[in-house]
Amino acid sequence: MRKKVIAGNWKMNKLLSEAEQFVETAKTKIPNEDKAESVVCAPFPFLPALVEKAKGTDLKIAAQNMHFEDSGAFTGEVSPAMLKDLGVTHVVLGHSERRELFAETDETVNKKTRAAFNHGLIPIICVGETLEQRENNETMNHIEAQVKKALEGLTEDQVKASIIAYEPIWAIGTGKTATSEQANEVCTHIRKVVKTAVSEEAGNAVRLQYGGSVKPANVDELLSQSDIDGALVGGASLEADSFVQLAEAGA
Ligand code: G3P
Repeated sequence: MRKKVIAGNWKMNKLLSEAEQFVETAKTKIPNEDKAESVVCAPFPFLPALVEKAKGTDLKIAAQNMHFEDSGAFTGEVSPAMLKDLGVTHVVLGHSERRELFAETDETVNKKTRAAFNHGLIPIICVGETLEQRENNETMNHIEAQVKKALEGLTEDQVKASIIAYEPIWAIGTGKTATSEQANEVCTHIRKVVKTAVSEEAGNAVRLQYGGSVKPANVDELLSQSDIDGALVGGASLEADSFVQLAEAGA
């Protein structure tokens, strides 16, 4: 059985005091780590304080991005070693907002994925299609290409430890959730792609999240699908009580 993983992606929201208050509230209410993993993906400036606050609890703290290089002349960037050093455990890579607004490519996502593992961070690799691609029946091919490129060069164990988040771009922040069948259909395809590209075992082990207007009211149905192992949640993860409800759904 794959353990469910619920991650809240705050994006560029909150101030430090609000972030700390969230963690203070959520850290004792989330399910035991044995039952489900709960992760908060916070902006860079909050990470040291949140890691400190969450220490000794079941709440994991993640970054929303990073650079793939170890160090050097990359003004404004944050390295995987810096995140690891802080006690961050996971990192979101290739979110559609980064691909669309900050020119991330499948190739940079692959470099970042490999760099994450080189530094002991678990990547949450985001893939997803636009509305136009869905309407043109390009969803499966597009997702397949994104997944294959992201995982290129990883060992089988690294693929098994990866988390892939399927986030249809048309469902992000729009209130339009993919139906649980639509979400599961793509996740089933992703698992098949991993089985073919890597191994049967890797395909069975890799955890697949759905993201796009997930909220307490629809999370149970999404998580009950055969190939959905968690959720990557934006808007509904901003309030601690709502995040706790989502995390409990994973347990
Ligand atoms: O990464 C989470 C995400 O993009 C979905 O956002 O607000 O639709 O839950 P939201």
